[in-house]
Amino acid sequence: MSHSSDLIADDVEGYLKAHEHKDLLLFLTCGSIGDGKSTLISRLLFESKLLFEDPLAATEADSKNQVGELDLAPQMDGLAAKRDQGITIDVVYRFFSTEKRKFIVVDTPGHEQFTRNMITGASIADTAILMVDARQSISTQTRRHSFLMSIMGMRHVVLAINKMDLVDYSKARFDQIVEEYRAFAKQLGLEDITFIPMSALKGDNVIEHSAKMPWYHGTTLLGYLETVELDVEHLQSSPFRMPVQWVNRPNLDFRGVTGMVASGVVRPGDQIRVQPSGKTSIVSRIYTPDGDLDEAVAGQSITLLLEDEIDISCGDVLSGIDQPAHTADQFETTLVGMHEAPLLPGRPYLMKLGAQTVSATVTDIKYQVNVNTLEHTAAKKLPLNSIGVCNLSLNRAIAFDAYKDNHDTGGFILIDRMTNNTVGAGMLHFALRRSQNIHMQYVDIDKQARALAKGQKPAVVWFTGLSGAGKSTIANLVEKILFAHGQHTYLLDGDNVRHGLNRDLGFTDADRVENVRRVAETAKLMVDAGLIVMSAFISPFRSERQLAREMLEEGEFIEIFVDAPLDVVEARDPKGLYKKARRGELKNFTGIDSAYEAPEAPDVHLKTSEMDAEEAADAVIAALRERGMIS
Ligand code: ADX
Repeated sequence: MSHSSDLIADDVEGYLKAHEHKDLLLFLTCGSIGDGKSTLISRLLFESKLLFEDPLAATEADSKNQVGELDLAPQMDGLAAKRDQGITIDVVYRFFSTEKRKFIVVDTPGHEQFTRNMITGASIADTAILMVDARQSISTQTRRHSFLMSIMGMRHVVLAINKMDLVDYSKARFDQIVEEYRAFAKQLGLEDITFIPMSALKGDNVIEHSAKMPWYHGTTLLGYLETVELDVEHLQSSPFRMPVQWVNRPNLDFRGVTGMVASGVVRPGDQIRVQPSGKTSIVSRIYTPDGDLDEAVAGQSITLLLEDEIDISCGDVLSGIDQPAHTADQFETTLVGMHEAPLLPGRPYLMKLGAQTVSATVTDIKYQVNVNTLEHTAAKKLPLNSIGVCNLSLNRAIAFDAYKDNHDTGGFILIDRMTNNTVGAGMLHFALRRSQNIHMQYVDIDKQARALAKGQKPAVVWFTGLSGAGKSTIANLVEKILFAHGQHTYLLDGDNVRHGLNRDLGFTDADRVENVRRVAETAKLMVDAGLIVMSAFISPFRSERQLAREMLEEGEFIEIFVDAPLDVVEARDPKGLYKKARRGELKNFTGIDSAYEAPEAPDVHLKTSEMDAEEAADAVIAALRERGMIS
């Protein structure tokens, strides 16, 4: 149930909320074409009583207590597309019920390029059925799916060994596959595996026990689905956690803290801790619109009234006092690339974890995992469908649990701040020691003192634009004028910095992000030293320019867009690089085969095809004068 509200389609989420996950099992079906997945789903659905393809219809039928049947044949043809947060996710949800439970089948295509879908499906599923063909050994695809289930912390999986009719219902064959799979699953840490010999086509061990396999004494597939422990049941025995969605709901005339219990149980009289702040109080009432409760458990939405008026904000986590969540701002995580635009280290993303939203940066990709061979390889970015173990650094501490302990308080997504796309889904492993042991050094001589001594207002004058647009030339002129006025300055220039500090970096998107991040950090130190810093880098991406702006204080970052059309800079071609790029001898050249994202609202916009460098420099100086940086 981790990430659920963030990754799944709204209509399905509404259905889940309406049921508070009670008596409702979500299961994922994984298999290759030909393994019999569709046959199995058809059989399960045909034999069950209530079936709706559409969650709204299912909700309606529930409320009327109505039983219906649908012709299934058309649904078995291919997969419909669900859209969520601008991503097309090919996940199909099918609903059915038996006397014991309601079910949602989460069906996703199995190919490697659908890792994202499988991650999405697994994030909400209680269990997964992995289909294998009894005639074959464990396939690469099954290994891949098993690995995905293991990183998603799936607590139970079924290995459905299908097509037993084609191996003469052989016990020996079944045992062989069980042994082979067990050995593999052990490496992954998958623990609770149920093996069922089956024929989806003939119906053996799907709904009823098969007379053809008297040697098998285990459960049928439906029997398993009707009895396997639901995540919500399991979560009730975990420590109490409630991410705070609301404080003082406007429609209530008393002070309360609203949210859904993610795990554990809460009762009036319980001591709770608010995290990350660490303040404590005691629960005085559990309010719901249907009346007060004596206790609330995982999956229930409630409003808690507390005995003390303590500071609580949306995004905080309430924990039981005995076993509170952890707090930290740096972690090791597993990350999955969820978007066509790769996840780039150094780029600031929005991280959503429970109800908390913070700014997060991948500081290191330790390794990427090949999902087919499980080999570890080095990586500089995480493309769509790739999986990596990464360190993550946040702009402030959050309350969290390890994902293995709690999917709701340990699972998160990363959102691109410029496009709003979900670019990553992640699982927290543990806090990095350094985040607990490194503290900012308190210094007596601060920025203000240094600036005062120099008699100036420190700032970064950030020049951005295509190669050949005139950034360095103008920045150089501006520095000369400032220097002549007695200001203390420094010029950070792309070509120079790339010979020293950043000589390990090239021109891929990932390297440019890192290039600009380091420059921004350096510029920030120089501003702290009291200097007026000119920086002249293409700095092609809005995200990193925004990052640089946010590192500094209000008014300290002045963005200068050095704007010249591509045909003009190409005609100038001072270093002959455009010609080289056009000849195909230089890859990833900005403006040719690498993007440039123009500033939307620069502080100064210089059209250098319409003015000379001196005029441009004067325009910058005028802007600095306006800001009181030069008299
Ligand atoms: S940035 O994109 O990472 O900000 P930066 O400003 O440091 O780039 O470096 C750009 C300079 O490197 C250009 O002015 C050019 O001289 C040189 N260069 C070499 N290869 C490339 C390339 N593929 N794309 C852009 N500039 C390149």
